[in-house]
Amino acid sequence: MWKTEDIKDFKKKLKTFLFSRRFDNVYKRLAKVYYNFQYRKDDVLLSTYPKSGTNWAAQILWAMKHIDELPKAMTENVEARIFLLDNDFLDDVSHKYYMDILRTTRPEAKEEDGPALQTAALEQGPRLLWSHLPFDVHNPTVLDKCKVVYVMRHPKDNMFSRFIHFNKITPAPIEYVTESFMTGDTLYGNYWHHVDEAWKRRHHPNLHILFYEDMKADIMAELEKLNGFLGTGLNKEQLQKVVELTSFKNMKAHPTMVVNIEALHGSFLHKGEVGSSKGQIPPELDARMDAWIKENALKVDPAFRYSS
Ligand code: A3P
Repeated sequence: MWKTEDIKDFKKKLKTFLFSRRFDNVYKRLAKVYYNFQYRKDDVLLSTYPKSGTNWAAQILWAMKHIDELPKAMTENVEARIFLLDNDFLDDVSHKYYMDILRTTRPEAKEEDGPALQTAALEQGPRLLWSHLPFDVHNPTVLDKCKVVYVMRHPKDNMFSRFIHFNKITPAPIEYVTESFMTGDTLYGNYWHHVDEAWKRRHHPNLHILFYEDMKADIMAELEKLNGFLGTGLNKEQLQKVVELTSFKNMKAHPTMVVNIEALHGSFLHKGEVGSSKGQIPPELDARMDAWIKENALKVDPAFRYSS
Protein backbone atom coordinates (compact mmCIF):
# COMPACT_ATOMS: atom_id res chain seq x y z
CA MET A 1 0.00 0.00 0.00
CA TRP A 2 0.86 3.68 -0.17
CA LYS A 3 3.94 4.17 2.04
CA THR A 4 5.44 7.62 2.30
CA GLU A 5 9.01 6.33 2.45
CA ASP A 6 8.55 4.13 -0.65
CA ILE A 7 6.99 6.73 -2.82
CA LYS A 8 8.82 9.87 -1.86
CA ASP A 9 9.72 10.63 -5.45
CA PHE A 10 6.86 8.79 -7.05
CA LYS A 11 4.47 11.67 -7.52
CA LYS A 12 7.26 13.96 -8.60
CA LYS A 13 8.48 11.51 -11.22
CA LEU A 14 5.01 10.76 -12.45
CA LYS A 15 4.41 14.43 -12.89
CA THR A 16 7.61 14.79 -14.87
CA PHE A 17 6.72 11.95 -17.23
CA LEU A 18 3.18 13.05 -17.83
CA PHE A 19 3.51 16.80 -17.66
CA SER A 20 0.66 16.77 -15.19
CA ARG A 21 -2.01 16.59 -17.83
CA ARG A 22 -4.84 16.51 -15.35
CA PHE A 23 -5.16 19.21 -12.77
CA ASP A 24 -3.02 18.84 -9.71
CA ASN A 25 -5.22 17.47 -6.97
CA VAL A 26 -6.79 14.84 -9.24
CA TYR A 27 -3.34 14.03 -10.45
CA LYS A 28 -1.96 13.43 -6.96
CA ARG A 29 -4.91 11.28 -6.07
CA LEU A 30 -4.47 9.24 -9.25
CA ALA A 31 -0.78 8.77 -8.50
CA LYS A 32 -1.76 7.14 -5.23
CA VAL A 33 -4.34 4.86 -6.86
CA TYR A 34 -1.88 3.98 -9.62
CA TYR A 35 0.90 3.16 -7.15
CA ASN A 36 -1.42 0.95 -5.12
CA PHE A 37 -2.86 -0.83 -8.14
CA GLN A 38 -2.90 -4.54 -7.33
CA TYR A 39 -1.23 -6.59 -10.03
CA ARG A 40 -2.13 -10.28 -10.04
CA LYS A 41 -0.35 -13.49 -10.96
CA ASP A 42 -2.40 -14.02 -14.11
CA ASP A 43 -2.04 -10.44 -15.41
CA VAL A 44 0.13 -9.51 -18.36
CA LEU A 45 1.37 -5.93 -18.40
CA LEU A 46 2.51 -4.41 -21.69
CA SER A 47 5.03 -1.65 -21.07
CA THR A 48 6.51 0.62 -23.73
CA TYR A 49 7.85 4.05 -24.47
CA PRO A 50 5.15 5.44 -26.80
CA LYS A 51 5.54 4.82 -30.55
CA SER A 52 7.54 1.63 -30.05
CA GLY A 53 4.86 -0.67 -31.43
CA THR A 54 2.57 -0.78 -28.40
CA ASN A 55 -0.65 -1.25 -30.34
CA TRP A 56 0.87 -4.03 -32.41
CA ALA A 57 2.20 -5.86 -29.35
CA ALA A 58 -1.11 -5.30 -27.54
CA GLN A 59 -3.06 -6.98 -30.32
CA ILE A 60 -0.56 -9.83 -30.43
CA LEU A 61 -0.82 -10.43 -26.68
CA TRP A 62 -4.58 -10.26 -26.76
CA ALA A 63 -4.79 -12.65 -29.72
CA MET A 64 -2.43 -15.14 -28.11
CA LYS A 65 -4.49 -15.12 -24.92
CA HIS A 66 -7.82 -15.31 -26.82
CA ILE A 67 -7.04 -17.60 -29.71
CA ASP A 68 -10.63 -18.85 -29.95
CA GLU A 69 -12.10 -15.36 -30.19
CA LEU A 70 -9.93 -13.70 -32.83
CA PRO A 71 -12.74 -12.08 -34.90
CA LYS A 72 -13.67 -10.07 -31.80
CA ALA A 73 -10.53 -7.95 -32.30
CA MET A 74 -12.05 -6.54 -35.47
CA THR A 75 -15.32 -5.52 -33.88
CA GLU A 76 -14.54 -4.76 -30.25
CA ASN A 77 -12.44 -1.71 -29.35
CA VAL A 78 -9.03 -2.19 -27.85
CA GLU A 79 -10.20 -0.50 -24.63
CA ALA A 80 -12.81 -3.24 -24.16
CA ARG A 81 -10.16 -5.95 -24.38
CA ILE A 82 -7.12 -4.32 -22.80
CA PHE A 83 -6.96 -1.89 -19.87
CA LEU A 84 -5.07 1.27 -20.81
CA LEU A 85 -4.04 2.09 -17.26
CA ASP A 86 -2.26 5.41 -17.57
CA ASN A 87 -4.77 6.76 -20.06
CA ASP A 88 -6.58 7.85 -16.93
CA PHE A 89 -4.01 10.63 -16.87
CA LEU A 90 -4.17 11.41 -20.55
CA ASP A 91 -6.69 10.42 -23.09
CA ASP A 92 -10.25 11.56 -22.92
CA VAL A 93 -11.73 9.00 -25.26
CA SER A 94 -10.75 5.93 -23.27
CA HIS A 95 -11.16 7.87 -20.03
CA LYS A 96 -14.82 8.47 -20.92
CA TYR A 97 -15.19 4.90 -22.14
CA TYR A 98 -14.12 3.47 -18.78
CA MET A 99 -16.12 6.06 -16.87
CA ASP A 100 -19.31 5.01 -18.69
CA ILE A 101 -18.71 1.39 -17.72
CA LEU A 102 -18.07 2.35 -14.12
CA ARG A 103 -21.30 4.33 -13.90
CA THR A 104 -23.23 1.14 -14.46
CA THR A 105 -21.00 -1.35 -12.63
CA ARG A 106 -20.06 0.82 -9.64
CA PRO A 107 -22.20 3.94 -9.44
CA GLU A 108 -20.39 5.21 -6.36
CA ALA A 109 -17.04 5.29 -8.21
CA LYS A 110 -15.30 8.64 -8.40
CA GLU A 111 -13.80 9.86 -11.65
CA GLU A 112 -10.78 11.27 -9.84
CA ASP A 113 -9.82 7.75 -8.72
CA GLY A 114 -9.16 6.79 -12.35
CA PRO A 115 -11.85 5.04 -14.39
CA ALA A 116 -9.45 2.65 -16.18
CA LEU A 117 -7.68 1.76 -12.93
CA GLN A 118 -10.97 1.07 -11.22
CA THR A 119 -12.51 -0.84 -14.12
CA ALA A 120 -9.39 -3.00 -14.28
CA ALA A 121 -9.53 -3.58 -10.53
CA LEU A 122 -13.11 -4.83 -10.83
CA GLU A 123 -12.24 -7.33 -13.56
CA GLN A 124 -12.19 -10.83 -12.09
CA GLY A 125 -10.45 -12.84 -14.82
CA PRO A 126 -6.91 -12.64 -16.22
CA ARG A 127 -6.19 -9.11 -17.42
CA LEU A 128 -4.18 -7.57 -20.16
CA LEU A 129 -2.88 -4.19 -18.98
CA TRP A 130 -0.96 -1.49 -20.80
CA SER A 131 1.10 1.40 -19.60
CA HIS A 132 3.64 3.78 -21.12
CA LEU A 133 5.14 4.61 -17.75
CA PRO A 134 8.72 3.48 -17.07
CA PHE A 135 9.45 0.77 -14.51
CA ASP A 136 10.47 3.20 -11.80
CA VAL A 137 7.00 4.70 -11.90
CA HIS A 138 5.25 1.41 -11.25
CA ASN A 139 4.67 -0.15 -7.92
CA PRO A 140 8.10 -1.72 -7.21
CA THR A 141 6.60 -5.20 -6.79
CA VAL A 142 5.09 -5.33 -10.27
CA LEU A 143 7.57 -7.82 -11.74
CA ASP A 144 7.21 -10.16 -8.80
CA LYS A 145 3.47 -10.11 -9.16
CA CYS A 146 2.90 -10.61 -12.91
CA LYS A 147 4.41 -11.06 -16.35
CA VAL A 148 5.57 -7.95 -18.17
CA VAL A 149 6.26 -7.59 -21.90
CA TYR A 150 8.37 -4.57 -22.88
CA VAL A 151 8.81 -3.35 -26.47
CA MET A 152 11.78 -1.26 -27.64
CA ARG A 153 12.24 0.52 -30.95
CA HIS A 154 15.13 2.30 -32.57
CA PRO A 155 15.12 5.85 -31.16
CA LYS A 156 15.21 7.56 -34.55
CA ASP A 157 12.20 5.68 -35.87
CA ASN A 158 10.55 6.13 -32.51
CA MET A 159 11.10 9.89 -32.65
CA PHE A 160 9.95 10.11 -36.24
CA SER A 161 6.80 8.14 -35.47
CA ARG A 162 6.17 10.54 -32.59
CA PHE A 163 6.70 13.47 -34.94
CA ILE A 164 4.10 12.12 -37.39
CA HIS A 165 1.69 11.33 -34.54
CA PHE A 166 1.85 14.70 -32.81
CA ASN A 167 1.93 16.58 -36.06
CA LYS A 168 -1.62 15.41 -36.66
CA ILE A 169 -2.68 16.88 -33.32
CA THR A 170 -0.46 19.91 -32.67
CA PRO A 171 1.86 20.52 -35.62
CA ALA A 172 5.47 21.19 -34.66
CA PRO A 173 8.62 21.30 -36.79
CA ILE A 174 10.80 18.19 -36.89
CA GLU A 175 13.65 20.22 -35.36
CA TYR A 176 11.55 20.89 -32.27
CA VAL A 177 10.36 17.29 -31.91
CA THR A 178 13.90 15.93 -32.37
CA GLU A 179 15.39 18.36 -29.86
CA SER A 180 12.76 17.68 -27.22
CA PHE A 181 13.14 13.95 -27.80
CA MET A 182 16.87 14.22 -27.15
CA THR A 183 16.50 16.38 -24.05
CA GLY A 184 13.69 14.18 -22.73
CA ASP A 185 11.47 17.20 -22.35
CA THR A 186 8.53 15.39 -23.85
CA LEU A 187 5.56 13.23 -22.93
CA TYR A 188 6.83 10.16 -21.00
CA GLY A 189 10.23 11.74 -20.58
CA ASN A 190 13.66 10.57 -21.56
CA TYR A 191 13.83 7.67 -24.02
CA TRP A 192 17.03 6.24 -22.54
CA HIS A 193 15.76 6.40 -19.02
CA HIS A 194 12.71 4.43 -20.11
CA VAL A 195 14.56 1.67 -21.96
CA ASP A 196 17.28 1.51 -19.31
CA GLU A 197 14.72 0.89 -16.58
CA ALA A 198 13.53 -2.15 -18.56
CA TRP A 199 16.93 -3.30 -19.83
CA LYS A 200 18.48 -3.49 -16.38
CA ARG A 201 15.67 -5.84 -15.34
CA ARG A 202 16.07 -8.04 -18.42
CA HIS A 203 17.16 -11.13 -16.46
CA HIS A 204 14.02 -11.16 -14.36
CA PRO A 205 12.07 -14.29 -15.33
CA ASN A 206 8.82 -12.32 -15.47
CA LEU A 207 10.11 -9.84 -18.05
CA HIS A 208 10.18 -10.46 -21.79
CA ILE A 209 11.71 -7.81 -24.05
CA LEU A 210 10.72 -7.48 -27.69
CA PHE A 211 12.46 -5.32 -30.28
CA TYR A 212 10.26 -3.76 -32.91
CA GLU A 213 13.01 -4.43 -35.47
CA ASP A 214 13.08 -8.15 -34.61
CA MET A 215 9.30 -8.31 -34.87
CA LYS A 216 9.49 -6.80 -38.34
CA ALA A 217 12.31 -9.15 -39.37
CA ASP A 218 10.73 -12.42 -38.23
CA ILE A 219 7.43 -12.14 -36.43
CA MET A 220 6.94 -15.90 -36.21
CA ALA A 221 10.23 -16.34 -34.34
CA GLU A 222 9.18 -13.62 -31.88
CA LEU A 223 5.74 -15.17 -31.40
CA GLU A 224 7.31 -18.52 -30.66
CA LYS A 225 9.43 -16.95 -27.91
CA LEU A 226 6.38 -15.14 -26.55
CA ASN A 227 4.43 -18.40 -26.63
CA GLY A 228 7.01 -19.89 -24.28
CA PHE A 229 7.10 -16.84 -22.02
CA LEU A 230 3.32 -16.56 -21.72
CA GLY A 231 2.80 -20.33 -21.50
CA THR A 232 0.05 -20.07 -24.10
CA GLY A 233 1.01 -23.38 -25.79
CA LEU A 234 -0.22 -22.34 -29.25
CA ASN A 235 0.66 -24.46 -32.26
CA LYS A 236 2.17 -23.17 -35.52
CA GLU A 237 -1.19 -22.84 -37.22
CA GLN A 238 -2.59 -20.81 -34.35
CA LEU A 239 0.47 -18.58 -34.28
CA GLN A 240 0.05 -18.03 -38.00
CA LYS A 241 -3.50 -16.83 -37.33
CA VAL A 242 -2.12 -14.35 -34.80
CA VAL A 243 0.37 -13.12 -37.43
CA GLU A 244 -2.42 -12.58 -39.95
CA LEU A 245 -4.77 -10.89 -37.51
CA THR A 246 -2.10 -8.48 -36.33
CA SER A 247 -0.55 -7.69 -39.69
CA PHE A 248 -0.10 -3.99 -40.41
CA LYS A 249 -2.62 -4.27 -43.24
CA ASN A 250 -5.29 -5.86 -41.10
CA MET A 251 -4.75 -3.48 -38.21
CA LYS A 252 -4.96 -0.53 -40.57
CA ALA A 253 -8.24 -1.87 -41.94
CA HIS A 254 -9.77 -2.28 -38.47
CA PRO A 255 -9.84 0.83 -36.24
CA THR A 256 -10.83 -1.34 -33.24
CA MET A 257 -7.25 -2.64 -33.22
CA VAL A 258 -5.62 0.67 -32.31
CA VAL A 259 -6.32 3.23 -29.61
CA ASN A 260 -9.07 5.68 -30.34
CA ILE A 261 -7.46 9.12 -30.17
CA GLU A 262 -10.13 11.53 -31.30
CA ALA A 263 -7.76 14.16 -32.71
CA LEU A 264 -6.14 11.59 -35.02
CA HIS A 265 -9.39 11.01 -36.92
CA GLY A 266 -8.71 7.31 -37.35
CA SER A 267 -5.25 7.75 -38.89
CA PHE A 268 -3.19 6.18 -36.11
CA LEU A 269 -0.98 3.88 -38.17
CA HIS A 270 1.59 5.46 -40.44
CA LYS A 271 4.06 3.21 -42.29
CA GLY A 272 4.97 0.54 -39.75
CA GLU A 273 8.49 0.13 -41.13
CA VAL A 274 12.04 -0.11 -39.89
CA GLY A 275 14.13 2.87 -40.98
CA SER A 276 11.11 5.10 -41.56
CA SER A 277 13.12 8.06 -40.27
CA LYS A 278 15.85 7.68 -42.92
CA GLY A 279 16.28 10.85 -44.95
CA GLN A 280 13.59 12.63 -42.94
CA ILE A 281 15.71 14.39 -40.33
CA PRO A 282 17.74 17.45 -41.41
CA PRO A 283 21.41 16.32 -41.88
CA GLU A 284 22.97 18.37 -39.06
CA LEU A 285 20.35 17.18 -36.59
CA ASP A 286 20.59 13.63 -37.90
CA ALA A 287 24.34 13.61 -37.21
CA ARG A 288 23.77 14.93 -33.69
CA MET A 289 21.18 12.28 -33.11
CA ASP A 290 23.62 9.59 -34.26
CA ALA A 291 26.18 10.85 -31.74
CA TRP A 292 23.51 11.00 -29.03
CA ILE A 293 22.46 7.42 -29.77
CA LYS A 294 26.02 6.14 -29.77
CA GLU A 295 26.83 7.78 -26.46
CA ASN A 296 23.64 6.71 -24.69
CA ALA A 297 23.42 3.20 -26.10
CA LEU A 298 26.81 2.53 -24.56
CA LYS A 299 25.69 3.89 -21.22
CA VAL A 300 22.61 1.73 -21.15
CA ASP A 301 24.46 -1.45 -22.04
CA PRO A 302 27.23 -2.29 -24.52
CA ALA A 303 25.17 -5.22 -25.79
CA PHE A 304 22.18 -3.05 -26.53
CA ARG A 305 21.69 -3.24 -30.26
CA TYR A 306 19.48 -2.09 -33.08
CA SER A 307 19.01 -3.62 -36.44
CA SER A 308 18.20 -0.50 -38.42
P1 A3P B 1 5.06 4.37 -37.65
O1 A3P B 1 4.59 5.69 -37.12
O2 A3P B 1 6.53 4.37 -37.94
O3 A3P B 1 4.26 3.87 -38.77
P2 A3P B 1 2.64 2.73 -30.77
O4 A3P B 1 1.58 1.72 -30.94
O5 A3P B 1 3.60 2.43 -29.65
O6 A3P B 1 2.12 4.11 -30.74
O7 A3P B 1 3.59 2.63 -32.06
C1 A3P B 1 3.11 3.06 -33.30
C2 A3P B 1 4.04 2.56 -34.38
O8 A3P B 1 3.88 1.13 -34.53
C3 A3P B 1 3.66 3.18 -35.73
O9 A3P B 1 4.87 3.30 -36.46
C4 A3P B 1 2.77 2.10 -36.30
O10 A3P B 1 2.61 2.18 -37.69
C5 A3P B 1 3.53 0.84 -35.89
N1 A3P B 1 2.67 -0.35 -35.96
C6 A3P B 1 1.44 -0.51 -35.44
N2 A3P B 1 0.93 -1.71 -35.79
C7 A3P B 1 1.86 -2.31 -36.55
C8 A3P B 1 1.92 -3.57 -37.21
N3 A3P B 1 0.93 -4.43 -37.16
N4 A3P B 1 3.06 -3.87 -37.89
C9 A3P B 1 4.09 -2.99 -37.94
N5 A3P B 1 4.08 -1.79 -37.34
C10 A3P B 1 2.98 -1.45 -36.65
